[in-house]
Amino acid sequence: MAVGITFTNHSIQPKAINPARGRQAINQSVSQPNISLIMTTNKRGFASDNNSGVHPNILNAMASVNGGHTIAYGDDPYTEEAIKLFRKEFGEHVEVFFVFIGSAANVLGIKAATQPYNAVICAETAHINVDECGAPERFSGCKLLTVPTPDGKLTVDLVKKHMHGFGFQHHSQPKIISISQPTELGTLYTPDEVKTLADYAHEHNMYLHMDGARIANAAVALGMSFRQFTTDAGVDILSFGGTKNGMMYGEAVVFFRPELAEGFMYTRKQGLQLASKMRYISAQFSAYIQYNQWRQTAEHANKMAKLLASELKSVPQVTITQSVDVNGVFAIIPKEIIEKLQQEYFFYVWDEERSEVRWMTSWDTTEDDIKGFVSTLKSLL
Ligand SMILES: Cc1ncc(COP(=O)(O)O)c(C=O)c1O
Repeated sequence: MAVGITFTNHSIQPKAINPARGRQAINQSVSQPNISLIMTTNKRGFASDNNSGVHPNILNAMASVNGGHTIAYGDDPYTEEAIKLFRKEFGEHVEVFFVFIGSAANVLGIKAATQPYNAVICAETAHINVDECGAPERFSGCKLLTVPTPDGKLTVDLVKKHMHGFGFQHHSQPKIISISQPTELGTLYTPDEVKTLADYAHEHNMYLHMDGARIANAAVALGMSFRQFTTDAGVDILSFGGTKNGMMYGEAVVFFRPELAEGFMYTRKQGLQLASKMRYISAQFSAYIQYNQWRQTAEHANKMAKLLASELKSVPQVTITQSVDVNGVFAIIPKEIIEKLQQEYFFYVWDEERSEVRWMTSWDTTEDDIKGFVSTLKSLL
């Protein structure tokens, strides 16, 4: 059943909010927000693409499905429509399940393809290893076998050290190689590199999992469709992210082998990720995919990272440490300026010992943000 999600096409720059009008609208039903707090917390920085708001087109898409009643838990025409759009991108054979957050997409996707006696090989820097509070181990029961890498990327040579003990009852049995595209260090796999890892995994009766929390940034940087470096490169399970690129919430688990999706609806429910009002996730994804919203926002974020890197080239005290392929810039900067700079534009220290920081750009980063940031940084040197 075809459903219409309508929205106006906003330009990338969000309109400044008129606090007075906002207050009037809110006054009708709830108590007044503390506007000065809102103004303070709305200050843009470079901490994370999660810190930015929601693109107006996505908000409009959510509003456009807000009328009337529809069946809950995903049995609604909006969800059907969104899944169709995923199938258009990735292939008719894929199975798609929406969840709330990216960690859940990773954890539940991994759980679907493993037994608790299995192991998952990943980079030491992988989100599943560093930033999911042990949830992959807790929910799947699997052991994570990590690999140090110079740039966040796995290779067959790097993975090999964990590829042993198959059939030996005393060892965890490797079942998944998990990569992030782009990586947590803002680097990218080419489709050939993905395929080499997928082929290697398949030769060993294993699966390739891809954490695509920022998959849109990868696609625009590679100048490719999603399909070219996932379906066509042999990926088996994908976490498809939307939140970091202008959505409010909502990620998808995409299975490229339908047998892996068997029973996944129960796994998702047990994993507490079955949204009752699913239509609001689905409407976001429909707008995001159908109108190429993902491309517009990711292109902009990537462009802003490139601009930041190029503006910093002329600053000898700043050393960029990773290739700037998507929307992150990693750099070593003098320790003594970090705190003062953070007060003006918040960001995270990536590696305290090396004085390495991470600056993330977002769909709403402006050229003025970059110029202001670089000039503040220079003034502190
Ligand atoms: C590489 C990567 N994967 C997954 C996630 C998902 O995180 P969350 O569970 O916060 O949505 C993130 C968020 O920072 C990430 O950077």
